[in-house]
Amino acid sequence: MPSSLLVYSPSTSSVFPSPQLLRVRLQLPFGVALFFRWCRLRSGEEEDDGCCLSLLLQVRVRRPAPVFGLPSVYVSSRSLPPLSSVRVCVFGVFVVPLEKMKIISPIIMGVNNILSDASPPNSFINLDQGDTALLESYWRKMKEECAVVIKGCELLSYVSDRSNVCWFMMPELTDAIKKLHALVGNAETDDRHIVVGNGSTQLFQASLFALSSSSSSHSPNPINVVAASPYYSGYPDETDLVRSSLYKWSGDAKEYDKNEAYIEIVTSPNNPDGSIRTPVASNRRGVEGKLIHDLAYYWPQYTPITHKADQDLMLFTFSKCTGHSGSRIGWAIVKDIDMAKKMTTFVVLNSIGVSKESQTRAAKIMEVVCNSYENFKLGSKNSELFFEYSKCLIKERWGKLREVIKQSDYFILPNFPKAYCNFTNESSETYPAFAWLMHKKDEDGVGYLEKKLKVLARSGNRFGSGPRCARINMLSRDEDFDEFLRRLSNIKEIGY
Ligand SMILES: Cc1ncc(COP(=O)(O)O)c(C=O)c1O
Repeated sequence: MPSSLLVYSPSTSSVFPSPQLLRVRLQLPFGVALFFRWCRLRSGEEEDDGCCLSLLLQVRVRRPAPVFGLPSVYVSSRSLPPLSSVRVCVFGVFVVPLEKMKIISPIIMGVNNILSDASPPNSFINLDQGDTALLESYWRKMKEECAVVIKGCELLSYVSDRSNVCWFMMPELTDAIKKLHALVGNAETDDRHIVVGNGSTQLFQASLFALSSSSSSHSPNPINVVAASPYYSGYPDETDLVRSSLYKWSGDAKEYDKNEAYIEIVTSPNNPDGSIRTPVASNRRGVEGKLIHDLAYYWPQYTPITHKADQDLMLFTFSKCTGHSGSRIGWAIVKDIDMAKKMTTFVVLNSIGVSKESQTRAAKIMEVVCNSYENFKLGSKNSELFFEYSKCLIKERWGKLREVIKQSDYFILPNFPKAYCNFTNESSETYPAFAWLMHKKDEDGVGYLEKKLKVLARSGNRFGSGPRCARINMLSRDEDFDEFLRRLSNIKEIGY
């Protein structure tokens, strides 16, 4: 907002159901309603994703406020980005008599809703993918501390540490990962091998290779790979992509009844539904399978840290730990040296290691997180601490979503039990990175969201459960999340 306007902090109002309300003092004898559109600008260009939303700017005159004796003007918008980053174009101005303003404003709001929803394809909100834009605000505050300079003469070699099983892993990253786990207390790293990968996606495939080619798996047939539904939608595709003769996707672990060897993926907290999980499959002879523990979300911003995980093969990712998915860094913590060697071989034959630029950056960011806890002084603000800060943001979003869903005739959400978190020293719920919305009336949840609300979500079909459920990203950009909530809460008003 221009600094010459006196702006009150955002709040909500019964007259204006929009999430953001700015109050500006002006002396006007009438109300003005403006319709305008805005496009976000990035480096002077319109944003390449074509995001272009309709907003309603309402200006409303009040009778003189008793304290100051001045009329007030209200400006409301769905979500107002910084004006320096948008191009605004006004396409309607209406002057409204003061006494009609109260009647007219909800009507204008409704028209605006319809207008914004009726401008395909740019009014779609994409909550399908798992990006972590919500965490950006923390890293913006820490941008100087996290900056890394890499000179042209550095990092030329493929090799990082010949004495390590995972010889392309930089020692500073190994140290930073161990330090971070020691700080959080979510995984044992002593006497374990750490293998770095291009995201945990690559390490998942390396795990399948290592487990299915080990000496204990003599089977002439591909080993079955299972996970309890709803399971992460990446697993089936990644397992079957190259039609390996070593392993094949075999569906829901709860229904596994073959008398054959298997690998079960245990994801906890689970993507998409946030549940805390343990293995469920067993073959007909009651023989246990091999396990991959995907602990991508076992961090304090998402769930209470109840124990130090100590399984044979655990996968973690920088993407979900700090939100830096673009760096493509994941790591496996492995007990058995032969497994670690096989996984290393897979990464070598697949990509001859992992970018050292990314490793350097990941190590730096983890170090900044750890240092902020080490240097934290009594009396400082919790908002300086990454896990506390991000948990607060995610929890707030869950609170808002639950409020809207409580009023909804169409959707329900899962509930999560409370548990004591050894890291934050308080009892807490799980606040997953995704919301698993179930349509109350057994209808196609994603179809409903897409057709009625122009919200793109990922269908339950992709997670091995029915189309009734839809997965929504809870870590999307503020404007997308706020707009999603607004549309969800306005379902009745706009006649769906
Ligand atoms: C459970 C789970 N495992 C693995 C991944 C892949 O993570 P990465 O970005 O490290 O490849 C994701 C990404 O969403 C995930 O949700």
